[in-house]
Amino acid sequence: MKKGMIILIVLIIIVATLCVIKNNNKKINEEKRNNPYQEFNFYKNEYLERYKKYQLNYPNLTAKDIVLRVNMNLDNSFYTNTKEVTKFNPLMLVNKYNYLSKNFKVPTLVSVDSFAKEGMKLDKDTKDAFIKMATDAKKKNLNLRAISTYRTYDYQANLYSNYAKSDGINNADTYSARPGFSEHHTGLAIDLDNITKIFTDFENTKEFTWMKENAYKYGFILRYPKDKENITGYIYEPWHYRYVGYKIAKYIKENNITFEEYYYEFLEKS
Ligand code: DAL
Ligand code: ZN
Repeated sequence: MKKGMIILIVLIIIVATLCVIKNNNKKINEEKRNNPYQEFNFYKNEYLERYKKYQLNYPNLTAKDIVLRVNMNLDNSFYTNTKEVTKFNPLMLVNKYNYLSKNFKVPTLVSVDSFAKEGMKLDKDTKDAFIKMATDAKKKNLNLRAISTYRTYDYQANLYSNYAKSDGINNADTYSARPGFSEHHTGLAIDLDNITKIFTDFENTKEFTWMKENAYKYGFILRYPKDKENITGYIYEPWHYRYVGYKIAKYIKENNITFEEYYYEFLEKS
């Protein structure tokens, strides 16, 4: 074959390859434009219509937030389309969409014998981390006291029903979980006071200032932060902490996200 012929064939192959690559890129870009949600590994194809609909209602949310929030079920009202969580797991999510049955048992429950009101119980690792935290706080002359920890279904039912009677269901729902839907039922959550002030005033204590800086070091997160009510379903609760372990607590604090956001980005599928 002549040299000129060979060069021509090679050129044709190169041009054809470039055309295929260009077409493929065009296709990928088009797909991305039509479906910007699928690039996330927590994307669920069966939710595509829900993502699109939610985006119409919240045009300013990023594609990532749309996917996360629909996966959280936030396109349904609280307490609808709920799912039962059947097994204890230290990273379990219990909220207004994920509930525990009346018979759910925490297999790791132990008594909290110091830095707590009488009769308090917690998951063993949560208790150990809490005692370590309260001991270190005490060295700085700060008093952390667990005033509400593990709650049974019946205890929560009674609590919620009293709030609903005195304050109305709509108000009660902003600060009290319905029975089965409380994180306190997991044994992984603690409400704190500083002994001298009522817990609802915890925000205005030196103990709270210390917790803001240090809680993550012991694996605790502020579970219901300010301005995240639309995600957590609860008003700001400066007194309520959840044990998730050091690494996750650090990530959540540094990225200023809720446990729901962390859970649906990293834990749901694992
Ligand atoms: N106060 C929290 C949300 C609960 O009732 O579990
Ligand atoms: Zn609480």
